[in-house]
Amino acid sequence: MPEIKPVADLSEAEAAEALARLADELAGHDLRYFQQDAPSVSDAEYDALKRRNSEIEARFPHLIRENSPSMRIGAARAEKFSPVEHGTPMLSLDNAFSSEDSVEFDARVRRFLRLGDEPVFYTAEPKIDGLSASLRYERGVLVQGATRGDGRVGEDVTENLRTLAEIPQRLKGSGWPEVIEVRGEVYLGHADFAALNAAAVEAGTRTYANPRNAAAGSLRQLDSKITAQRPLRFFAYAWGLLSAPFAATQWEALEALREWGFQVTPQAQRVENAEGLLAAYAAMEVERPRLSFDIDGVVYKVDRLDWQSRLGFVSRSPRWAIARKFPAQQARTILEAIDIQVGRTGAITPVARLHPVTVGGVVVENATLHNADEIARKDVRIGDTVIVQRAGDVIPQIIGPVIEEGVERAAPYEFPTHCPCPLQTPLARETTGAGAETVVRRCTGEFACPFQRVEHLKHFVSRRAFDIEGLGEKQLQGLFDDGLIREPADIFTLEARDATSLKKLKDREGSGETSVKNLFAAIEARRRIGLDRFIYGLGIRHIGETTAIVLARGYGGAEAFLAAMD
Ligand code: IVH
Repeated sequence: MPEIKPVADLSEAEAAEALARLADELAGHDLRYFQQDAPSVSDAEYDALKRRNSEIEARFPHLIRENSPSMRIGAARAEKFSPVEHGTPMLSLDNAFSSEDSVEFDARVRRFLRLGDEPVFYTAEPKIDGLSASLRYERGVLVQGATRGDGRVGEDVTENLRTLAEIPQRLKGSGWPEVIEVRGEVYLGHADFAALNAAAVEAGTRTYANPRNAAAGSLRQLDSKITAQRPLRFFAYAWGLLSAPFAATQWEALEALREWGFQVTPQAQRVENAEGLLAAYAAMEVERPRLSFDIDGVVYKVDRLDWQSRLGFVSRSPRWAIARKFPAQQARTILEAIDIQVGRTGAITPVARLHPVTVGGVVVENATLHNADEIARKDVRIGDTVIVQRAGDVIPQIIGPVIEEGVERAAPYEFPTHCPCPLQTPLARETTGAGAETVVRRCTGEFACPFQRVEHLKHFVSRRAFDIEGLGEKQLQGLFDDGLIREPADIFTLEARDATSLKKLKDREGSGETSVKNLFAAIEARRRIGLDRFIYGLGIRHIGETTAIVLARGYGGAEAFLAAMD
């Protein structure tokens, strides 16, 4: 990677060159994002480029280019839709990335309005990660719907927007202005996104990188019949042109939008002062993994609309609102290796070993690649720069490689044909009952494969099975390697064998008298367990906890079960 100089160290010539390069680079990203719905960098990286551009411009204002990325909101419309001029521009929001930024926002509002320490109320609303749309209603009837476009002129997608069940064709209730542009976010829920991509895989058509791109791609279809088949949803949160005011506060406005038949985010809150802003962010962070749709931050808005008008706008964003963004959940790093893991039932999972990278505040070194087909489909190769994504508690995933022109890549990854265990048993592609091939590959070694045996042992002692404390992964592997525990039954003879052994467990590395005593006690305590746990602990394929309980009930007791097995 080329060295990135601090802005303060740039000469004027270097600054001009950097601005030219950033303008090109950002224009390319805008094109891929807005017109092709297929971004090649994460939002965080995009934001970082934009920030650097602004910092350089702040230091060298006379170098600001005519086509400067800081002058643009969104990107040009695609040619395929007719242009629609918005009644009032659709602006964007300034970003806050920290608590300090949020406190400073509150302070700025107070300074501007000369409020001192009078209480200031704000709304804190989830920042929905979709695409914004503007809906023009005349006498309560939907007459036009548009995308944001460049903020001034958007794309006419009226017919497509009409297919959304959550966009009323007619406003309900009363009190709506004769003309109003209702604004909000078109988005796709997680489950609908997953189903859409699964169907695309099945049909062999393109998949989308994330719910936002899927929502954008689904809305920007020339044939509204296709849009109609996509379960797009809509949250209303703002408005543009109004023929008459309809509320005194943002909070009241949300309430009115709800009464007129729109969905508004149930997570929105009305809070007081800077403390309230911080608490709302913390609450939204907790809520985020439980939501059924993507959010990428919290939007703070001054509640009183008369104050909003006094605060007004600076260039392209309002002074009365700010978006507090969550830390990036995506990052780039190098795929250093692909390791093959063998599961308890022999299923083979490729695991990506990554150059450590912080994603959303957590260091990520491993990510799942699911299976051989997935690697081939994404065409990730060792040495590639890849985009890693972390969502909530799920295992980090690799979105795909970042392919840079002129950068040589390794050969396509060849999936192994044999188990990586010392026996090197051939792998078989699993078939369904009907004989169709599935994506799963398995080691055919079963109990001969030492990797599968260790996984079996881990399962056997796990919390929901025998629940033996003190037999962690490392200990178990060590005892297996030394031949002390080769199968589950060995666990129960460990103490007796240790008593007559010259090489005592307590003398092993990482062990001691107390831990060994505790381990023996833990084993002793599990000599008698429920039949369901026992059956589950055997780790038979397709026999999960629930099935084990059903089987245990069916057999009634250990005697019947053992007799049947014999
Ligand atoms: S208010 C004048 N509220 O974030 C700005 N925007 O970066 C009015 N967004 O273009 C926007 N959730 O696409 C607002 N609760 C929310 C939002 C929200 C998502 C998006 C919207 C906007 C972008 C600004």
